[in-house]
Amino acid sequence: MTYPMPALIGHRGLPSAAPENTRASIKAAAENGISWIEIDVTMAGDGSLVIMHDPTLKLFGLPDVALVNVDKSYLQTVDAGGWFHADFAGEPLLFLDQLLELVIQYNLGLNLEIKINPDMETAEQVNAVCDVLSFFNIPHEQLLISSFDLSALALVRQRSRSLQIGVLCEVIPETVFEDVATIRPVSIHCDQSKLTAALARRITAQYPLYCYTVNDTVTFEKLLDWGVNGVFCDRAQAPEMRNLVPR
Ligand code: G3P
Ligand code: MG
Repeated sequence: MTYPMPALIGHRGLPSAAPENTRASIKAAAENGISWIEIDVTMAGDGSLVIMHDPTLKLFGLPDVALVNVDKSYLQTVDAGGWFHADFAGEPLLFLDQLLELVIQYNLGLNLEIKINPDMETAEQVNAVCDVLSFFNIPHEQLLISSFDLSALALVRQRSRSLQIGVLCEVIPETVFEDVATIRPVSIHCDQSKLTAALARRITAQYPLYCYTVNDTVTFEKLLDWGVNGVFCDRAQAPEMRNLVPR
């Protein structure tokens, strides 16, 4: 079995050092020698693809603003860093094309997680993401698309026979192998707190398995013992986490 990603992946860049999912976070990941990052992309009301986790702007102190009601010109005025620390005040939101430019610039591996905006149509979102990806033509071994939304992943697979896909589940269902067969994923990703040793063994017999979000050595070591192939980590720069990475 080949593993699409390493054992330690920068979750949203390096969000313990810089505001998540921003240029600063990606730069910090690259400068700390992190080779793969996981980054969330979602869609705003005008169809622009913005690098954000949620369908609202609550994180940035704008709790009443839903992404579906704003456009790119509005999003370009949002301060995506001040909530994290005054040093990052004025950090702009990134858009998908800018993210891919950064990934190329820093030669990073990218797990792009498509966060389907529930206020908008799924197919429109998947097609828009796939259009941008085809334009940038990142080597397939350096890119992995994931989503909690299986219908979105099925559409990604229809668009591309060869893109690497990871299926995200909070809890891995009993029926996972049947559920994902037509998507042909390269990996399964799940919530570490919902995983058991027995389930990890069952999955890793068929697919590489990655877990979110793991920030401590005890959990990381336990998961590696269970055969888990890698984790999404907010502090992937920490020497004690890196020391556990299998050679
Ligand atoms: O892709 C792994 C992880 O990021 C999924 O959960 O909520 O952190 O995007 P979330
Ligand atoms: Mg994510």
